[in-house]
Amino acid sequence: MAARQMGSTNVRLERMCVLVASWIGVSSSLSTNAAAARVPANRGKDDGQPPYGAYPHRSRKLDARDLATVPMVRRATAAGRKQTTMSTRLPVLLLATLALGACTDHTPMDAHAAEASAAATKAPAFAPPPESAIPEGPYGDMVRLGREIFMHTRKAAPAYVGNGLACVNCHLDAGRLADSAPLWAAYGMYPQYRKKNHHVNSYGERLQGCFMYSMNGKAPPLGDKVILALETYSSWMAQGAPHGVKLEGAGYPKVSSPAKKPDYARGQAVFARDCALCHGADGQGQKVAGDYVFPPLWGPDSFNWGAGMHELDKASAFIKANMPLSRGGSLSDQDAWDVAIFMDAHERPQDPRYKGDVAATRKAFHDTPMSLYGQRVNGHLLGSEPAH
Ligand code: HEC
Ligand code: HEC
Repeated sequence: MAARQMGSTNVRLERMCVLVASWIGVSSSLSTNAAAARVPANRGKDDGQPPYGAYPHRSRKLDARDLATVPMVRRATAAGRKQTTMSTRLPVLLLATLALGACTDHTPMDAHAAEASAAATKAPAFAPPPESAIPEGPYGDMVRLGREIFMHTRKAAPAYVGNGLACVNCHLDAGRLADSAPLWAAYGMYPQYRKKNHHVNSYGERLQGCFMYSMNGKAPPLGDKVILALETYSSWMAQGAPHGVKLEGAGYPKVSSPAKKPDYARGQAVFARDCALCHGADGQGQKVAGDYVFPPLWGPDSFNWGAGMHELDKASAFIKANMPLSRGGSLSDQDAWDVAIFMDAHERPQDPRYKGDVAATRKAFHDTPMSLYGQRVNGHLLGSEPAH
């Protein structure tokens, strides 16, 4: 596990330090140095608490004080961006690194994944090369472009993106994190037959699907530089991995069927307790300076009804392994299913394969208990009033 997580410091610094620094700094108004001093003290403690102050313990319901900190997260983060100087940046980066290091070293997800893989599967382990190993020159430039598109999809490939998400929102740590469908584990498994479109898909076609559904956009043509760059980035990360072999950490680990039928109302309570602080009470995420720092879970800026994440088994598996952010593995299986049904029972952009009516679209593409599309939840026919 540890080896696989090495070498991604750059990504973490770039993407996460803003978030981590804001969680730590905001409500406690600690000076950066004081907060930094606290982090090592918390490292290794087995109390399940994250190494930062602002994020409440999951067993405690959010209260008004927690919610009141949220706009402060925004302001502090925005202000932090403007005022960052070399002297304040270093401690913040150090802090973020330590905090995230602590998270990845000590989360229950690690223990869980290690256990599961030792017991059940014999999938070979693989560690992608560190980002620092991306070479200079034209090949390295293409790898870097792919990474840039993956991290800042809307800015780097605007013609093909129709929502507020980025690839990295669902494939964490720049597509490197095990158990969040990492690119290094996907690349060597294509070409592959997909039930979704009933034919053998090249890796490029698989990427096109992400743009159409998860990004609610348009498929870049197969010869497009966007596809080539993402392929190059993935292939670079997968160098040395066995070909055609399912690797440890590929996809999302399946969550076993819950004891009780997944339930919207229970999921709503899990959402309020464990998700709303970051994703917003209305699930619409939160922006800083026009960019989402916490992505929307439903509504016009989220993935559409054709995306894998709208299916309950995939959503519960992603959530169980990866959410709340940095505390993957902390939810019970039941909570993961319940919150998945709550999330996926909200309207989102229409399935681009829409056949003119919801029932026909369900029959053609969503005829499975894992999809709520075309089902009635609390009296509302899902898919009938898509968000846009
Ligand atoms: C809303 C979340 C979401 C976003 C955004 C997203 N994906 Fe995915 N992606 C998924 C899900 C869910 C799967 C299916 C994983 C599974 O079935 O195990 C997936 C699968 C993949 C796979 C195949 C993984 C495998 O193991 O076969 C690749 C490659 C991929 N995505 C790349 C991308 C790229 C590139 C982008 C951005 C253009 C992107 N994704 C955006 C959720 C997302
Ligand atoms: C501490 C803040 C935080 C909490 C709490 C949190 N998330 Fe997230 N979540 C994030 C961030 C940040 C991302 C994007 C990750 C990235 O880009 O690296 C994300 C991504 C996601 C995504 C994929 C992107 C999207 O918008 O669809 C889903 C689904 C999700 N979270 C669901 C949940 C659920 C359900 C919970 C509660 C069980 C939860 N999250 C709790 C911060 C959080």
